[in-house]
Amino acid sequence: MRATGLTDRATSSFEPVGVTARYRRPPAGVDPDPTKSRTRRIWPLLAARRWPFITAIGLSFLSLVLQVQVPNLLNQAIDRSVQGHQVPLEHYVVIVAVIGGLVGICGFVSRWLLFRVAYDFEFDLRNLIYEHLSAMSFSFYDRVQSGQLISRANSDIRSVQMYATFAPLILVQCGIGVVAFCFMLSISVPLALVAMSVMPFLFWAGIRMRHVMFPISWIIQARLAEVATLVDENVNGVRVVRSFAQEGREVGQLADASAAVAWAYEKDADLRARFTPIMQNLPQVGLALVLLFGGWMVIHGTVGIGAILAFNAYLLMLQAPFMMLGMLIMMGQRAGASAERIFEVLDERPDVVERPGAIDLEVPAGRVEFTDVSFSYGSGPTIIEDVSLTLAPGETVALVGRTGSGKSTLARLLLRFYDVDSGSIAIDGTDVADVTLPSLRAQVGVVTDEPFLFSASVADNIAYGRPDATRDEVVAAATAANAHGFITGLADGYDTVVGERGYTLSGGQRQRIAIARALLVNPPILLLDDATSAIDVHVEQLIHDALEGLLAERTTLVVAHRLSTIALADRVALLEDGRITATGTHAELLATVPVYADVLAHVADDVADHVADEPTDGRGA
Ligand SMILES: Nc1ncnc2c1ncn2[C@@H]1O[C@H](COP(=O)(O)OP(=O)(O)OP(=O)(O)O)[C@@H](O)[C@H]1O
Ligand SMILES: [Mg+2]
Repeated sequence: MRATGLTDRATSSFEPVGVTARYRRPPAGVDPDPTKSRTRRIWPLLAARRWPFITAIGLSFLSLVLQVQVPNLLNQAIDRSVQGHQVPLEHYVVIVAVIGGLVGICGFVSRWLLFRVAYDFEFDLRNLIYEHLSAMSFSFYDRVQSGQLISRANSDIRSVQMYATFAPLILVQCGIGVVAFCFMLSISVPLALVAMSVMPFLFWAGIRMRHVMFPISWIIQARLAEVATLVDENVNGVRVVRSFAQEGREVGQLADASAAVAWAYEKDADLRARFTPIMQNLPQVGLALVLLFGGWMVIHGTVGIGAILAFNAYLLMLQAPFMMLGMLIMMGQRAGASAERIFEVLDERPDVVERPGAIDLEVPAGRVEFTDVSFSYGSGPTIIEDVSLTLAPGETVALVGRTGSGKSTLARLLLRFYDVDSGSIAIDGTDVADVTLPSLRAQVGVVTDEPFLFSASVADNIAYGRPDATRDEVVAAATAANAHGFITGLADGYDTVVGERGYTLSGGQRQRIAIARALLVNPPILLLDDATSAIDVHVEQLIHDALEGLLAERTTLVVAHRLSTIALADRVALLEDGRITATGTHAELLATVPVYADVLAHVADDVADHVADEPTDGRGA
């Protein structure tokens, strides 16, 4: 039953099997220094596209400068052509028309460029976050909620992007106020001062608004993330929710979370309602003042009627930027809160990192040595204590222990999902801490206790670790894992797409696909964690027949729950509360270690429970 192509290892050195990423790498990262301001930290990403960005802003500025000419032209046209008859009116008409055309072209090009920069920036930021997440250690995923990450990678990025790219544009447009002010000054200094006398109030309102908006923006983003988490858990945990008939409670919780979001949005709207009219209408007050003093000045002959019209046009021109200024402040507050949430993720450092100068682990003979290994999750209790265990090349060792004794943890340490607190783990004498992570994980195959399938075809799931594998190789691996039979019975055979997390398959079927997946990579060292607990005795026997051939060539650490699995092993190690208390053959342990028989009896009971329950929620995956 040994499959061809699985046991011959042609290559003698590590070759990365992962598909090389084919996306455009971000041209720059964010500044890693957390003491700097958020804007300065984001800046390198924008600076990388500074030319289209500056061109867009420059053109936008140009178009505003051109627009600003119009009221002054109007002033002149009224005074010189309509009233004074010194210059033909067509002269002004042509100039205004040309300005209109230029403004249109500038507006088009600058928008076109700016939107490109905006979406490129968003693309880069999102890739940065995903790259970062893919480097994070398992301890990080043990504590974060996926909904939080999803919302940070979506809505938070969007709000930062909007602000980073559009704020400069709006600022430029506000800057036009300065230009307009100069024009007003050139027409009449006193009238210009009167018109702009409302500015300090506007400034004050802006500062106040900034101050009160930030906390609420933060609350909104945080609560949106809570809703995302709840939805995520309800979709993934739907089987648990339904089986305990807790739909009502879950809907209630979601309603509470939505109500909290609504409350925050209402507060936000409330604040906006207070500040926006002030920000928007202060220029109108300026207009009224211009009418009052300007009218008085026209009556006394100090300025012409054209001046009042020009001032009117200038103040109207200021209206739009001022409205946007209010928006800008709100966007800025939301973006600030979002950026902080994004940096919270980006500032997380992985615990398990490759040492500088780490080497690739060459295809090993397969000697695995745990030496005085101790480990605890974070600051929790000690889970593994002074474990020393050596697996000779090609040897199969069964790890036996009560539930919670640390068997899966020991397996995770060998894969370097976590780093040991003290002691060392070596493969062929090389400490796993000194080798590159991809090479380590390429040489150590694993079937975890929670087989995870992607919603892809069965063949793609099996070929996950070696996407270039041929169909024959996939079939060979499936045959070795005794999955070929049931796979050909599926509607589309190997091309059957399984439901999310493989829910359209039975637990045992999932597990056999996971075994095939590990076997296809043909690793010299194999970790089987609970690999056969969800499989019935008959099928298990078939797998064992297949495994027997495969195990002969590789070093295997198998977490054993059944006598039949233990029978595959050359040696048994008994793990009690994180300590290895005995090693030897099954027969030796049975004869000399009374606890062993005791543990075996308990383990068998656990297994009976295991087989009955399907892994349903997978939250802790
Ligand atoms: N990610 C984690 N973070 C914190 N503690 C953990 C984590 N995973 C496991 N533990 C704890 O470590 C201990 C050992 O767990 P482990 O999964 O290694 O047990 P096990 O021997 O594989 O049990 P089982 O036979 O039930 O699979 C348990 O007390 C568990 O609560
Ligand atoms: Mg376990």
